[in-house]
Amino acid sequence: MFSQLKQPVIDNLEAYQVDFERGFLPKEDPLERLPDQFEIIENIATNLSALLITGQYRHVIDKVQFPDISQLETERQIKRAFLLMSIFGNAYVWGGEIPATVIPHSLAIPLCKLANILDRPPIVAFSSMVLDNWRRIDKTQPIELDNIAPLQLFLGGIDEYWFYATAIVIEAKGAPALISLVQAQKFVNLDNTALVSMHLQKIVAVIARMQAIFKEITNKCDPYIFYHRVRPFVGSWQEPGVIYQGVSDTPQMFVGGSAAQSSLLQSLDAGLGIKHDREKHESYLRQIRVYMPVAHRRFLEALEMGPSIREFVLNNQENYPMLRQHYNECVQAIEHFRKQHMEIAVHYITKQAPQHKQGTGSTNFAHFLRKVKQQTTAHLIS
Ligand code: HEM
Repeated sequence: MFSQLKQPVIDNLEAYQVDFERGFLPKEDPLERLPDQFEIIENIATNLSALLITGQYRHVIDKVQFPDISQLETERQIKRAFLLMSIFGNAYVWGGEIPATVIPHSLAIPLCKLANILDRPPIVAFSSMVLDNWRRIDKTQPIELDNIAPLQLFLGGIDEYWFYATAIVIEAKGAPALISLVQAQKFVNLDNTALVSMHLQKIVAVIARMQAIFKEITNKCDPYIFYHRVRPFVGSWQEPGVIYQGVSDTPQMFVGGSAAQSSLLQSLDAGLGIKHDREKHESYLRQIRVYMPVAHRRFLEALEMGPSIREFVLNNQENYPMLRQHYNECVQAIEHFRKQHMEIAVHYITKQAPQHKQGTGSTNFAHFLRKVKQQTTAHLIS
């Protein structure tokens, strides 16, 4: 997987499930339907919003007997099953007047089996809800906002649709940045300042394209609907936790689904040597790596172990000032992305939170996002 030059360089992206054109999205479009013997899972998925709206959902799950998931054959099947079963778990916990604290064994057992196979926690995360949850409307056309549909939603509707669609397309737009990070590390080892510089410039352009898509979110995802009807279904399992009946009697606590679990920004940080090492921020960002697909966690580690682009810029900036300029432009682009993201998060969460909730959870996340942005800025080379 690694070449023999100086520090190890990633030379086989496929081994990390990183695609040249799609980045962290799967190389093959996600499976849209499980084989016939799993029809019961597909039926509940099709009826999910109706069952939630009519208040029937938990009754259905309490009575259902799911087919044996060991009959699933391919990785795509397993990922589709995990997508749906983890959505069923979240819908069970959050889809009633009072959150459920026990997921019944009928669902908990197959859900945990699937999570074990994929080595991910048994809850909805970015990796399932975004990476494995899309289809191209026209299969001959690329992944763009006018050609992407999420496969499964909770309540459905334009706002939920659009929220996930933008996240999916941002991932695709980020793909060339991953390639350029790997290439830039390779050229660090080859001591090629011009080509390191060129790849840094490419990364700047990629981040601008990601931002342009991110901006689109406000067009069709209403903040009120997001806060009240979309976000609640991907909430965390906090104190007192959730029991997976038939698996363990100990309540489990997990982080809720969030684009913080995307490997994209973490890759940019890792490749460019941006560290968030104060006030436990690094530890949160590391903790959520377990929600990423295993191969992507390994990719982040490989980038971190690879040749340091930042050191290279520091060592060569005097002879080649453009190098510093292009590195700084990358840092600024990430800073801008984080600034835009903070504004959106405040607009979609803090401003929507009922008066009595403002100043609690919303302050914590705003503080966290501000610190992460400030620590990005601190990496500008003067
Ligand atoms: C309505 C849209 C969005 C809202 C309200 C939102 C909100 C938040 C919140 C509250 C956090 C704090 C940590 C957490 O909850 O896990 C967070 C973190 C994060 N979000 Fe978002 N987010 C949105 C969209 C996105 C999108 C589309 C991306 C694209 C990749 C993204 C990337 C991140 C990242 C990377 C972090 C970790 C902190 C950082 O590295 O800067 N978010 N987001």
